[in-house]
Amino acid sequence: MKDNRVGIIGVGMTKFGELWDYSYRDLITEAGTKAIRDANIDGDDIQELYVGSMSPGLFAGQEHIGALVADYSGLSGIPAVRVEGACASGGLALRQAYLSIKSGRNDIVVAGGVEKMTDIPTVSAMMALMGAGDEEWEAFYGVTFPALYALMARRHMNEYGTTIEQISEVSVKNHHNAIFNEYAQFRRKITLDDVMNSAMVADPLRLLHCSPITDGASVVILASEEKAKELGNEPVWISASALATDTIALHDRKSLSRMDSTILAAERAYKQAGITAKDIDLAEVHDCFSIAEIMAIEGLGLCKPGEGGKITEEGRTGIDGEIPVNPSGGLKGKGHPVGATGISQAVEVVEQLRGNAGKRQVDDAEIGLTHNVGGSGATCVIHILERD
Ligand code: COA
Repeated sequence: MKDNRVGIIGVGMTKFGELWDYSYRDLITEAGTKAIRDANIDGDDIQELYVGSMSPGLFAGQEHIGALVADYSGLSGIPAVRVEGACASGGLALRQAYLSIKSGRNDIVVAGGVEKMTDIPTVSAMMALMGAGDEEWEAFYGVTFPALYALMARRHMNEYGTTIEQISEVSVKNHHNAIFNEYAQFRRKITLDDVMNSAMVADPLRLLHCSPITDGASVVILASEEKAKELGNEPVWISASALATDTIALHDRKSLSRMDSTILAAERAYKQAGITAKDIDLAEVHDCFSIAEIMAIEGLGLCKPGEGGKITEEGRTGIDGEIPVNPSGGLKGKGHPVGATGISQAVEVVEQLRGNAGKRQVDDAEIGLTHNVGGSGATCVIHILERD
């Protein structure tokens, strides 16, 4: 694999949050411009463009995203495609860009992600998000995403004795980490009491167990090894890009206390990279609800099934812990503009591997993992990033 490596040579993102002054196109062009500057390339060098966006039609009244982004980036003419896989849209765009270079077809390809979610009422946003579930058997009956994850939380608690305090510690940690992230939506400390006393959303999940509704965009620029050398860049290498799917509806799963798409994608990713879970120095995982982080670290093999709550409570997933999880603040603290999330995870891992993460820097980070999930787990895309 060494002869045909694909690396990330530039990263950029907007602040995540309620960005009233930004339109959909402003978001992606700002993130893109930052990434192009970071890579030290010209727009003319870009050969192809993939943009992850989950539901721009419902959130912002805009479709036809590939051409729109190419147009407003001054790149009209190049092949440009929107990629959709619910909240995993960003991770899937990254995978498409990776495959485009890996195939030998292109040398420099852009992968972006963007969503503008806060211009419509929460209830409309929730309905748009439910498009990621099963319309006929879930959404039609009034189920929302907090409710689906609440079912998983209950099952996990029942099977493994995971406590609501352990689940809440995920939120406390991720809000803590987000304080050090200038791009994060919530840069404020919360305590266990704050989480336990926040408003109930879907029993047992409360407001502070939920990721928020967010505007934001993120972009990475990928290059072949040969091109990166020619440009004089020091890339962060993508040593694995793995994708797996599962049933769209939660009730069709073999188990509600684990995500099989995570387990499958992780197996494939570790095999591709030639490593095991023990080699991972940090992970950015999809904590759309705090129980999801616990299930993610178990599925990724960062701890044993049923131990995710315990290791979180013991502080072992903190920035200084033995396996730092979501040093960026995760979806909970940093925010979750659904299409942009997967790419923002890659941005964080690149900054960590470059040693540029400031107060949230993980010591001696050499190998990082991104874990991006669509819906209640029907899609999972994992990337492993490494530095030389
Ligand atoms: N975490 C922390 N604070 C939050 C928050 C969250 N998830 N969501 C909202 N807030 C804060 C807001 O900043 C605001 O604070 P302020 O009063 O100091 O300004 C306050 O809570 C009320 O915000 P509001 O926007 O009115 O909340 P809401 O009731 O409309 O929405 C949720 C709250 C939990 C329903 C919404 O965030 C949600 O649906 N989250 C899940 C999103 C989702 O499903 N994503 C896909 C995952 S698969």
